[in-house]
Amino acid sequence: MIEIKQLKSGYRGIQALKGVDLTVREGEMVAIIGANGAGKSTLLNTLSGVVRAQSGSIVFDGTEVSRMPAHTISRLGLLHVPEGRQVLADMTIRENLMLGALARSRRAALYDIDKVVSMFPILGERMDQMAGTLSGGQQQMMVIGRALMGTPRVLLLDEPSLGLSPLITHQVFEALATLHQEGLTIVIVEQNANRALAATERAYVMERGLIAQHGNSSDLLNDPAIIEHYLGSAESAVID
Ligand SMILES: Nc1ncnc2c1ncn2[C@@H]1O[C@H](COP(=O)(O)OP(=O)(O)OP(=O)(O)O)[C@@H](O)[C@H]1O
Ligand SMILES: [Mg+2]
Repeated sequence: MIEIKQLKSGYRGIQALKGVDLTVREGEMVAIIGANGAGKSTLLNTLSGVVRAQSGSIVFDGTEVSRMPAHTISRLGLLHVPEGRQVLADMTIRENLMLGALARSRRAALYDIDKVVSMFPILGERMDQMAGTLSGGQQQMMVIGRALMGTPRVLLLDEPSLGLSPLITHQVFEALATLHQEGLTIVIVEQNANRALAATERAYVMERGLIAQHGNSSDLLNDPAIIEHYLGSAESAVID
């Protein structure tokens, strides 16, 4: 569904991606883990067209998208929930969710407000309040809901558990598991490597702009080098 070959990209003076190869098949849930600054966000930003690819290719459903503008890519169904959430604080939750529908193409809508609310009931209770009044976890649910309103074919999530308590992180991952069971293709970037590997079938490990390793998530969870580098800290331990 997504075939990335020798992708290079970055910023003025910084080569953040140095030739990344990565494949995502339809219906898969894939994790990307790696240290701070490894290039994980840049990879998602380049996939969604927010950062321009310098060279290499990104083929999405048979179409080369690496030179397309972000709004065209989102209309094809590659939807990105960026790091830091981008909540429109002075708009209501309903308005924030409806903004997601603007990105919708003519594809039949899979998700509407009712479906988003059934997944995240707290949003239903707060629908006409300002989004800025939501807690961090509720905001994360809202931005995932907003992406769902755009009828994604692939959901790209950047650090959805950032700043969330273990309980709320659990709720967000439960929702992602449900979406995955419904057939949605999901690519998730996470600092919380334990959680990400436990939730996915396959994973890629990024180091300094390159894919250092990839394989079955369960194998990586038991790989001594991965444990030492990415799974060591007690705070990221999976407790449920
Ligand atoms: N807007 C930007 N302008 C210039 N350099 C940037 C920008 N964003 C990221 N970089 C640089 O690109 C490299 C990769 O950063 P990126 O944000 O992709 O890493 P990351 O793996 O997502 O890290 P983290 O886990 O901290 O979010 C880093 O060296 C970073 O400093
Ligand atoms: Mg990042």
